[in-house]
Amino acid sequence: MVTVVANDAVLGATVDGLDLAQPLPDAAIETILTALASHGVLRFPNQDLSPAQQKAFACRFGSLEVNVANRNATGEHPEIMILSNMVDAAGKPLGLADAGQDWHTDMSYSATVALANVLFAIKVPHDDHGQPLGDTRFANMIAAYEALPTALKQRLDGATITHDFNLFWERMRARPGSNRQPLTPEQRAEKPPVSHPAVMVHPVSGAKVLYANPGYAACIDGWEKAESDAVLAFLFRHQLQDAFLYDHHWTEGDLMMWDNIATLHYAVADYGAHQHRMMQRCQVMADQVFAHPRFR
Ligand code: OGA
Ligand code: MN
Repeated sequence: MVTVVANDAVLGATVDGLDLAQPLPDAAIETILTALASHGVLRFPNQDLSPAQQKAFACRFGSLEVNVANRNATGEHPEIMILSNMVDAAGKPLGLADAGQDWHTDMSYSATVALANVLFAIKVPHDDHGQPLGDTRFANMIAAYEALPTALKQRLDGATITHDFNLFWERMRARPGSNRQPLTPEQRAEKPPVSHPAVMVHPVSGAKVLYANPGYAACIDGWEKAESDAVLAFLFRHQLQDAFLYDHHWTEGDLMMWDNIATLHYAVADYGAHQHRMMQRCQVMADQVFAHPRFR
């Protein structure tokens, strides 16, 4: 039996009773999609997934993205990205070590936005007392939208925001010790800046979502620069109030699936090089859900 138990928090639910390594019936996929839209962040504990099994699960919800920055793509599974601070015997990184270490929404820089990140914890770092490190922090953009002042809701209605992949990339590159290279002209050409509505209607729930994030949102289209900068700065402060935040403490074997339309997230980098973290990721695009919206 599948159970979905909501967290006592602004986001999150735990889904039990499913082995995600096995093919699931359509009804289970529908249950998960509905739960994703209502809880924003889903935890499936005690999973064990090969890259092929993770892809088979994720692709039930939409097409899978091959990340433009996936330097570690293997021939067989380019849709799988490894996030890790581990290195092999020769010192070569096993994955992207600094992924997501500031507030952002995955793929908001993409013409087709993402529906969900599917992230499986292979190794979770711990402190000397056995407490997990490397949390992922989430923010609820349905709650953030609802709490906006009415006048601002009206101004944002119909407005669009330009999102730029290079913005977050360069911010990460500027950090001390970053080994990110500048994006190549080919990478820039593959992901040019794009515009999306500032307020999106969620294709599964019909809820209104504030679709802006400090990682990629560059400007509000057609507004004076000073006004755009001021309103974006306000939105970035507003959307990260404590009341909208939820922290996930990882356990190995957790598969987390989060709504990339209605949440922001942040990978907390509070662990050292000797505290190993390894995550296996798939990005599900929102092509399928926007082609067949669930609400009327
Ligand atoms: C990502 C990401 C967060 C984390 O996979 O897009 O931001 O905690 N990950 O690893
Ligand atoms: Mn991310």
